[in-house]
Amino acid sequence: MQNIPERRIEPVTPPANIVLVGFMGTGKTTVGRILADALKLDFVDMDSIIEKRAGKPISTIFAQEGEPHFRALERALVRELAAGRNQVIATGGGIVLNPDNVRDFSATGLVVCLQATPETIYKRTAAATHRPLLEQDDKFARIVSILEKRRALYDAIPHRIDTSTRTPQSIAGEIMKLYSMNRKE
Ligand code: S3P
Repeated sequence: MQNIPERRIEPVTPPANIVLVGFMGTGKTTVGRILADALKLDFVDMDSIIEKRAGKPISTIFAQEGEPHFRALERALVRELAAGRNQVIATGGGIVLNPDNVRDFSATGLVVCLQATPETIYKRTAAATHRPLLEQDDKFARIVSILEKRRALYDAIPHRIDTSTRTPQSIAGEIMKLYSMNRKE
């Protein structure tokens, strides 16, 4: 990948997109689909786009090219999507690792961080095998350890919603309220 200096993403008000960030298993995709449907916006799932374009699953990208390559693909896609409009974007759990990603998404979108307890995340991700970062014997310990390392990054997002004990519909409703308030500013 070439090292071209990045141009600034121009800020827009009111927000043109809704961007869901948060750890794996916090409900970004489920809530994102409900939101897109209700608001007649395009639903965009970052992991799916990366997989489609690469022609292989994320676990294979990690295994063959390594995590830094995946993060570079993710970064390029953030820039592309942040320049777009009328989208509900479900991001990959690791986009907060690069502060430029959060900056670019925040310039054009309402960024909401979905959160959940490690126990809830464990329950929601236990059966899945497509997340390379959780492919370890002690999945729960792995969740706790990655969450701990990223906690400050997720906590720095101004809008945060704990999804542990709520339905996806009620979470989507709260985000819709937030979105309509932001559009009136
Ligand atoms: C990752 C989360 C995954 C995917 C990749 C890395 C992370 O997305 O992007 O496996 O670093 O937290 P989901 O949050 O959609 O599972």
